[in-house]
Amino acid sequence: MSEFNAASPAITTMIRMDHTHALCAFHRYRLTSPWWRKRAIVNSVCTALEIHATLEEEIFYPALARVAPDNDTVKKSEPEHREMREIIAKLRAMGPQNAAYDGLFMELMRVTIHHVADEETILIPIAERALKSELSSLGAAMTRRRIELLRERPVDVAVNTAGTFPIATFVVAGLLVCGLNSLFRPSSTRQRV
Ligand SMILES: [Fe+2]
Ligand SMILES: [Fe+2]
Repeated sequence: MSEFNAASPAITTMIRMDHTHALCAFHRYRLTSPWWRKRAIVNSVCTALEIHATLEEEIFYPALARVAPDNDTVKKSEPEHREMREIIAKLRAMGPQNAAYDGLFMELMRVTIHHVADEETILIPIAERALKSELSSLGAAMTRRRIELLRERPVDVAVNTAGTFPIATFVVAGLLVCGLNSLFRPSSTRQRV
């Protein structure tokens, strides 16, 4: 276990990678795209944001709360995730042919960009100063949990990441921390794609 922690990328690196991939996926959306393409991009972004938010809430934010309990940005992070989840729920309930679909997705992008900017300019620097010795072990914990979350929704991830989202992030991080065998062995029947 400890050798995996030592080899793991820092949790802050993983969070930055997730943000980069999410913003790239947002920018693939075109108002003129066919509805099925819009839906694939939206589903991909929404699934990725949900997984990313859960990982931060379970692993990153509690660690930050230990070292910066009074920081306002730390305190407002989970409420901002709730706002994102509310928009995601509306998007999932709405078909891409709906006239409000484009605007709602743009709203999700606006809220996400604002949130990501706060994390990258305030929270990640705090973590890199105050959690320096833990960044790798937190990164390993994040990867282990990410793999569990991906296993809970393999079809969702496989269908919606086609050409749109950071499956590479998940796989590369997973291989670094858990090794190829442990990553695929327990769920070989679900990994045939
Ligand atoms: Fe966040
Ligand atoms: Fe984030």
